[in-house]
Formats: sequence, C-alpha cells, structure tokens
Amino acid sequence: MARKKLIAGNWKMNGLTADGLALAKGIAAEVKALGKPQCEFLVCPPFTLLSAVKKSLRGAKVALGAQDCHYDSKGAHTGDVSPLMLTDIGCSYVILGHSERRADHGESNELICKKAISAHQAGLKTVICIGETLEERDSGQTIDVCSKQILGSVPESATAANTVIAYEPVWAIGTGKTPTAQDVEDVHAAVRKVLSKKLGKGNANKMRILYGGSVKPSNAREFLSLPDVDGALIGGASLKVEDFMAIAKNSGC
Ligand code: 13P
Repeated sequence: MARKKLIAGNWKMNGLTADGLALAKGIAAEVKALGKPQCEFLVCPPFTLLSAVKKSLRGAKVALGAQDCHYDSKGAHTGDVSPLMLTDIGCSYVILGHSERRADHGESNELICKKAISAHQAGLKTVICIGETLEERDSGQTIDVCSKQILGSVPESATAANTVIAYEPVWAIGTGKTPTAQDVEDVHAAVRKVLSKKLGKGNANKMRILYGGSVKPSNAREFLSLPDVDGALIGGASLKVEDFMAIAKNSGC
C-alpha cells in the first residue's frame, strides 16, 4: 500500500510577522518549483500567523495546520482556539498531543483524544504525537509507552484519511540526538500493529506514521526510506526554507 509521504513543519513558538511570512513565501515558491511533488507538504505556524501564512501560501500545494486546539467548538475558554475557528481561517490540519504540550500543559491521552474527536467533527485532519522520554527508553519501555499513547489518544473516529501519527522520542527533540534507523522502524512497525488492532488493518496500512526528532537534511534519507516511515514532523529545520526543502528533496519528494 503506497502512502504519500507528508513533510510537515512545526514552527512551534517561533516567527514574528516578517520572518514568518518570508518563510512561508519561500516554501511556497520552492514547492511550486517542484511541479508535481511526490509528497504532501504541511506547515504549522503559531496561531498568530495562521491567516497571514494562508495568504502567503496561495497557489502552492502546502497545507496549513495549527499546533493545538480546544475540544469545544466555542464558549468560555479564555485563551483557547476551537477546531471550527481553525477551519474557518483555512487550516486543514491540527497537531495534537505534542510532547511539549503534554509536558508544559499536562495534557493527558484522554484530553488529546477528546480534542481529536472534535477536530475530526470540524473537518480537520489530526497529527497525533506520541513518544517516550529518555528514562522510559532506558528502562526498555519505548514500545509499551507508545502503544499506550496510541490506545489512549487516538479516537475511534480516526481513519487513514483524517489522522496521521507522529512518533517523536522526547529525548530526540531539539537535541541533535536520534535513535538508530532500526529503532525507528521497530517502533513504527509496532505502532502500526497497535493501530491495526484498534482501527482495523485497512486503516492501519494506509495511515501515515511520521518520524520527528532532530530530522535534518543529512539524516532525512536514512529515516524516510524506512518501510514504515511515511514522512517527517520537523521542528528546528523547518524554520529555514533551505533545510526544510532539502529534507523533502532527500526524501524523494
Ligand atoms: P526538532 O526537529 O527541532 O527536533 O523538533 C521536532 C519536533 O518536536 C517537531 O514537532
């Protein structure tokens, strides 16, 4: 089953108007120059730049995503943004359960699952993040932790069409450290097995599982050529047009 690779940039809390729009325009121009790219592209700027980035991406095959959303469609939730607000301004994706949100905001699997259901109802595709800490890895719990996160945070409403999984070992994020290619493939294959039990073989075989954690132009080929790796969720290197596009090109896009 051929799964189209997804090259996704998570800008995190980076980007003021001028540099954010320059980045978006640069990516849009490069993706247009690819003609018919073999991959899908996604950028996830901070909330403050979503509308403006949408305009800068006009005419380019680059989807727009947010980095989080609330589970309610509206109401008394000061500081939050609803899935409907995101579709309203042209987002088609939302990242949920990133380890930084799990850590900084105490997000649980249950909460992430609730957000995902609501995002799907609003017509958003979700990128649901999982990944183990260094402690968990060192005590041999990687697959167990990731399986539990999948079972708890991926809702029954998830299908290959509305959900992407991102495996991001917490200790590999922003550190320059990465697991071996074999480790990554082992986790992705195990995750697909859990997805198969939960959502059926058809969905599991079609669902994309991205790798994230210090993806760079120099290691993209190694990770993205693995059988169960269907793209990348890129942090730091997604903030430079050159690096983001080099990752895409090295991944066969
Ligand atoms: P880095 O690519 O900076 O390691 O970040 C990965 C990440 O957290 C993407 O969501």
